[in-house]
Amino acid sequence: MIGSANGLAVSITGLGSRVPEKVLTNDDLSQMMDTNDEWIRERTGIRERRIAEPEQALSDLCLPAAREALADAGLDASQLDLIIVATVTPDMAFPSTAVILADQLGAADAAAYDLSAGCTGFMYAVAQGYGMLAGGLATKALIVGGDVLSRILDWSDRSTAVLFGDGAGAVVLERVAEGGFLGFELGADGSGGPQLYLPAGGSRTPASAESVAERLHYVQMNGREVFKFATRVLVSSAEAVLAECGRSIEDVDVYVPHQANVRIIEHARQKLGIPEEKTVVDVDRYGNTSSGSIPLALSDAKADGRLHEGQLVLMTGMGAGLTWGSGLIEWTAGGDG
Ligand code: ACO
Repeated sequence: MIGSANGLAVSITGLGSRVPEKVLTNDDLSQMMDTNDEWIRERTGIRERRIAEPEQALSDLCLPAAREALADAGLDASQLDLIIVATVTPDMAFPSTAVILADQLGAADAAAYDLSAGCTGFMYAVAQGYGMLAGGLATKALIVGGDVLSRILDWSDRSTAVLFGDGAGAVVLERVAEGGFLGFELGADGSGGPQLYLPAGGSRTPASAESVAERLHYVQMNGREVFKFATRVLVSSAEAVLAECGRSIEDVDVYVPHQANVRIIEHARQKLGIPEEKTVVDVDRYGNTSSGSIPLALSDAKADGRLHEGQLVLMTGMGAGLTWGSGLIEWTAGGDG
């Protein structure tokens, strides 16, 4: 799916994020499994990640992130008419985490649902939110991306356990006078599904003593294949959305790629020809937070003073599905209140 935004102008008017307090360093991991700081840093660029406490569920991270985003936009939750939570680790299968969040926030007038598109979930959800606002179905949307991947990692598998972390980020979408989203490119290739998946727990293989014993309730990944896929789509999706919107790589002021691995980001950045100083990287501190990655990186960029009105921001996500998605936005200071 690809298209340039030709409806009403819609933009991000509020940003918030939350990571758990507990830090798990590479040295900590080396006490738990056969790995070491040097291998993890060289292959991934990750130094540490945040891990949720046993009693912390996804909504416990989404709630403070959402409150921060609403405060940033100057909105009360009662004004929201749409809440989407992008995640692969909801609090429970149902009700959705978005509904739980809506109740906790006091967003009584909002439609609320979860969206599953792997690590690309946030980009898919933002594009949906844009469509709802531009089409006139909603006026104020809260889009949250977050995951507690530590719950679905096999902590005896060093090839996956070292890569991920927990975290959530939220954005408020509103109509604006000008600027905002210019376009999106989203895609999916289901034939690549087995490269990164969680086999059990659904209707195909429900939870059973056997499925637990076979460790089918944990993330399974073919790292090399995902690496090749990631480096390919980060480039092709970014180029496609830029071309669709009539912009060039030189126009991009801030590049926010999915934070999976420094080597993947570096490969895409060089292939695209985006200078290092325009590229947001926080995977060293948070690991791969899946649906939380892009909104967390946006929040970091804002906190660092790197996001200003009028700047062109390119975001690209990719992940399980396999899926990918890019969005191009002309950054705005705020919404219409
Ligand atoms: N510590 C030490 N050694 C390790 C570890 C570890 N944590 N993990 C693997 N190794 C070993 C392997 O066993 C292998 O040893 P061998 O040569 O004796 O067989 C060696 O390191 C090399 O393993 P490779 O898998 O070839 O290492 P590679 O350079 O491909 O890096 C990695 C692996 C980091 C997983 C890489 O393939 C990658 O980043 N892939 C993409 C993963 C990703 O981004 N997934 C998520 C994207 S989508 C989403 O966000 C949900």
